[in-house]
Amino acid sequence: MTMCSHTRLRAIDVPAGAVVAAEIDDDEIVVWRGRSGELCAMPRQCPHLDWDLADATVFGDELVCSGHGWAFDCDGHAFKRNLQGRLDPKDDVATLPVEEVDGEIRVSPRTQ
Ligand code: FES
Repeated sequence: MTMCSHTRLRAIDVPAGAVVAAEIDDDEIVVWRGRSGELCAMPRQCPHLDWDLADATVFGDELVCSGHGWAFDCDGHAFKRNLQGRLDPKDDVATLPVEEVDGEIRVSPRTQ
């Protein structure tokens, strides 16, 4: 039998626009809530040059790295928005399943 761990956070601690660092199975992650209320989670290190995404900001529903502006959505799409608004896609990232039940946010490990 495989044990499955989860990370639990209080929903009140992740309001719209917030980014919170957490751990799951000894892996560092970030959880953020978009302006629409959507919850998302992904590894804490930026896939570009490893900046700490706990220092990122939320723009709409996207997490924007404070390093060089790469943005990530809840479906794992990554891109850089240039000054003219053009989106330059980057490699997708692995997001983590997130659910919110009765005031609690539960993040599940990635299923491979
Ligand atoms: S380190 Fe995150 S965009 Fe460069």
